[in-house]
Amino acid sequence: MTGGPAFDRTFRDTLETLLVWRRDVRRFKTDPLPDGLIEELLQLAALSPSVGNAQPWRFVLVDDPARRDRIVANFERANADALSDYEGEQADLYAGLKLAGLKEAPVHLAVYCDEQSNLGHGLGRKTMPEMLAYSVVGAVTTLWLAARAYGVGLGWVSILDPVEVDKTLDIPEDWKLVGYLCMGYPVEEHTTPELVRAGWQDRVDISEFIVKR
Ligand SMILES: Cc1cc2nc3c(=O)[nH]c(=O)nc-3n(C[C@H](O)[C@H](O)[C@H](O)COP(=O)(O)O)c2cc1C
Repeated sequence: MTGGPAFDRTFRDTLETLLVWRRDVRRFKTDPLPDGLIEELLQLAALSPSVGNAQPWRFVLVDDPARRDRIVANFERANADALSDYEGEQADLYAGLKLAGLKEAPVHLAVYCDEQSNLGHGLGRKTMPEMLAYSVVGAVTTLWLAARAYGVGLGWVSILDPVEVDKTLDIPEDWKLVGYLCMGYPVEEHTTPELVRAGWQDRVDISEFIVKR
């Protein structure tokens, strides 16, 4: 195919709406997602770019209740430990934040980077091997946007001990945890991040982060 589709103004406006309404979601309805939807969303995520076309993403759907309970306990320990780094008003604010929807979310998805696969034959990562994991991060972003387009919320949980997660999920040695994701239908929709609404961290105008050389 030589000429691709022409994306018009209407499409661009809709794309902007998608970007504006994508949120990190921590408040989920417990309703399950329709059969096959997660697989469909992962198909879309797999259209993401990756260094050397290595496609290093590995998706672990965590359905087993006992394993999910261990992930919840892992989060609670890590979150209590993180709280102890703060003091005074900031500690009070931190303690009031909801930083995961692990108990309610119908879908737990652990996203790994396969660091030993021969796919891509090492292209593009000799000087910057971390590009492999960055490729997986890109796929998570695609998944995040695709999910939102289907009305599905996604929340990224990084307050976890990754070694414990690997043990809980019986993960191969060469896989590195990139993200533990909760997915499901959101209880509420917002255009501003939860951490902004809670007074933890405001958005900064992008002009502050653009430099010219
Ligand atoms: C790599 C990464 C890790 C994150 N980890 C957490 C987390 O552990 N808990 C949480 O509540 N939010 C987590 N978030 C969500 C961020 O807090 C959120 O993206 C940010 O506040 C902006 O909000 P928005 O995604 O709704 O725009 C994470 C986001 C990213 C990209």
